[in-house]
Amino acid sequence: MSASATSVAPAAPGGLPLIGHGLRLARNPLPFITSLRAHGGVVRIRMGTAPAYVVTDPALTREVLVTDAAHYAKGGRIIDALRVFFGDGLATVSDGDAHLRHRRLMQPMFSKAHIAGRGDAMIGQVRSMVGAWPEGQGRDVCEDMNRITLAAFLTALFGADLPADLEREFTSLMPEIMKGTIRQTLLPTWVTRLPLPANRAHAGRVARLRALVDRVIDHRTERAGGPSAAGCPHATARERRAGLFDTLLTAEDPLSRQQLQDEAITLLTGAIETTGTTLAWTLYELTRHPEITRRLREELAAACGDRPLRHRDLEHLPYGRQVLQEAIRKYGPAWLVTRTATRDMDLGGYSVPRGADVVWSPYLHQHDPDAFPDPEVFDPDRWTPGNGASTRGSFLAFGDGRRKCIGENFAWAELHIILATVLQTWPRFELTSRPPRPQAVVTVRPDRMSMAFHGRST
Ligand code: HEM
Repeated sequence: MSASATSVAPAAPGGLPLIGHGLRLARNPLPFITSLRAHGGVVRIRMGTAPAYVVTDPALTREVLVTDAAHYAKGGRIIDALRVFFGDGLATVSDGDAHLRHRRLMQPMFSKAHIAGRGDAMIGQVRSMVGAWPEGQGRDVCEDMNRITLAAFLTALFGADLPADLEREFTSLMPEIMKGTIRQTLLPTWVTRLPLPANRAHAGRVARLRALVDRVIDHRTERAGGPSAAGCPHATARERRAGLFDTLLTAEDPLSRQQLQDEAITLLTGAIETTGTTLAWTLYELTRHPEITRRLREELAAACGDRPLRHRDLEHLPYGRQVLQEAIRKYGPAWLVTRTATRDMDLGGYSVPRGADVVWSPYLHQHDPDAFPDPEVFDPDRWTPGNGASTRGSFLAFGDGRRKCIGENFAWAELHIILATVLQTWPRFELTSRPPRPQAVVTVRPDRMSMAFHGRST
């Protein structure tokens, strides 16, 4: 609603002169953001001296994302910082015609049929990586999950015949790009523009990534040469080897080189850490809940017997989906997303001035005890059909409205494939580090997490 008779939103306690709530947000982000619910449906915080409005009532978040989305534009500090390097990819491009056009072009890439066409190639890739872990040695599981997620995503995006040297370059560049990106979004904008070694190194890596994407586009263009039909049951072997990205290369209304680069980089950065950290947290919860692990293994054995997973098995793993959904709920994975009010607004009876940042948090909503009793308890049975009716409006992990995650179907498939493959390959695994602490950076990631895997099945 636009502004009418409204009052000023309550201020969160503890703001300091000049820095506002910045320090509390930096030091203790998750307890701070969830504590705001106690102060009202919309709570005013200060980031430095500028006010931002945190929405704690899921019905009001829906207004921001869906019903009044036209007046809450995609924007804010984090998006501005990302745009500097990643340009106008789908996640950062401003609302409007360009966003609609890109979304329309990219939507078919992420249809269930298209993803199914890449499923078995992804499974092969994941199996060979998970099977190569040495027995019984503690390993950084979060790093493993990010690496496997990247490899599976590269296979899906650019095809199963991506030359090994290109794959190697992506694998070595992406973790550094992600670290640099996180740094850029956390620092004040003016610091990220100084000619500091870290800023220059980040810019250099993004330039290398752009050049790499260019080489992949050339490689794919040579092979694509015609509309992709890989999701269709009559697709030829060549078409089945194609990547999701071929849909963009063969579109009737093609994107420019620069736009293709922006989209490839956006997809790579959006797809990896979200899915990778979710998987790491899922494995951690399994080390703490043998009964849940046992039910998962039983379901998997009933679906596949002794043979390796196939893509078509995924629909027979409903308990697996509940476990993954509970990990997504409990650990975010996004914890802070921003919009900018494009005019003076009334949000739940509070005024939000034009130009102000509006903050919403999947993590906050998914820890709401009214929707999810005992929110810190990991309980996949919350998602048993019939149990979840009252929670639907508060599960916002993939967002809502016109900027909702375009990769959601893909994420579910990839999460299932990797979790099932780890379970099939390793009959036992255990935590070898102290229990991890959640750290809110871009996603909610474990500060450290090491596990050892035993009894590899061949
Ligand atoms: C567990 C996994 C994932 C989670 C929790 C997640 C979460 C989200 C959220 C919350 C948004 C909305 C942000 C906003 O409202 O401003 C979003 C957007 C987006 N996501 Fe995901 N994501 C996941 C996986 C993926 C994957 C696998 C891909 C790529 C294949 C992807 C690509 C994107 C893109 C391109 C957007 C921007 C859409 C637009 O603005 O039109 N995400 N994601």
